[in-house]
Amino acid sequence: MSSVLIQHIKQLVNTREENHLLRGVELADLPVIEDAFVLIEDGIIADYGNMYELELKVPQLPKQIIDADGQFVLPTWCDSHTHLVFAKTREEEFIDKLKGMSYAAIAAKGGGILNSANKLHEATADELFNGAWKRLEELSKLGTGAIEIKSGYGLTAEGELKMLRVIKKLKERSVLSIKSTFLGAHTYPVAYKEDHAGYIDSIINQMLPVIAAEKLADYIDCFCETGFFSPEEMETICKAGMRYGLKPKLHVNQLNSIGGIESAIKLNALSVDHLETMTDADVKMLSNSGTIGTLLPTAAFFLRMPFQPARQLIDAGCAIALASDYNPGSSPSGNMNFMIALSCIQMKMLPEEAINAATINGAYAMELQHELGSISIGKKANLIFTKPIPSLAYLPYSFGTNLISQVMINGQFI
Ligand code: NIG
Ligand code: FE
Repeated sequence: MSSVLIQHIKQLVNTREENHLLRGVELADLPVIEDAFVLIEDGIIADYGNMYELELKVPQLPKQIIDADGQFVLPTWCDSHTHLVFAKTREEEFIDKLKGMSYAAIAAKGGGILNSANKLHEATADELFNGAWKRLEELSKLGTGAIEIKSGYGLTAEGELKMLRVIKKLKERSVLSIKSTFLGAHTYPVAYKEDHAGYIDSIINQMLPVIAAEKLADYIDCFCETGFFSPEEMETICKAGMRYGLKPKLHVNQLNSIGGIESAIKLNALSVDHLETMTDADVKMLSNSGTIGTLLPTAAFFLRMPFQPARQLIDAGCAIALASDYNPGSSPSGNMNFMIALSCIQMKMLPEEAINAATINGAYAMELQHELGSISIGKKANLIFTKPIPSLAYLPYSFGTNLISQVMINGQFI
């Protein structure tokens, strides 16, 4: 057995004997232990506590001991919403936007998701894998230890399956925990612009059976939005996915409130993601449901949209997660540290709330809460070691500065 003791940690963050999905006021409660230790055995957290408990809890010290003087240790980020697999970046659209075009106008002229779909068809599976692998490595150094990755730039059976097989290979090769989501319903491809029923039929009858047979996805997603998929279309697609055991995790209320929240809750969705545009009724419905609201503030930031109403959602008692939405169109960064800073600066979330939303609640939004998201006995030793910092609030406060010294995944420094 390989054992390692991390000792003299200035603050061990998000220590939980048991965990449950955090809602409303609970999000502000972030348990910490000052002057702490963590014992790791075979990549799993075996014990933790205050230094004064060390002798009692760990009578026989392991050979490998690491001093973490002045450092904070946190669970790694659980990024529950990304589009990490893509062929090319889209900085030309970024320039169009700087010159005044809207996201919707760019999409309408064949840019946006369709642009990424064209590029994806030209790329080989190896090229897609290598690009995503590089991004995954960069993200792990920034503290991401678990990640959800969507398809959705294929928009044909061939393209969607190519993406999902790339995600499957990432799952097999990476030490990070990865969940895969089928997002065939990201937009209508050009060939089906006037034949929505035809495209939905191909999702249900061509794509889903292969996805299920090859076990290519954990979840099903749909972009429920004006000009994309209606709530009724989303329900049809999700119900078909659910017959294969895929739970819905959905894009709703990014640009418009068109009934996506209500439909998602009816479908018992694991999460509803984006939520830039929420009516009071939407907030109320979400707060009374078991569905997680996943906020993607870097998408609002990059598209210069109003930020998600985090305070209103928390005050209403919603269960909130935070994710990066890493994608080439609306959030070309998967840096969860910046995302957390933005959540505090622009959405007025407290550092404790943001950290909980990006760790334990993010784990729930990927159903990884038994393995990740907190410092708990039996969970994976996926840990962020900060540089020496004065306080936890210093992390979002000093946005843009990389304060991570080292990242450990399954008990190994990467
Ligand atoms: O989550 N809103 C829909 N999908 C992505 C953006 C996709 C793209 O522009 O490539 C999102 O923001
Ligand atoms: Fe997204």
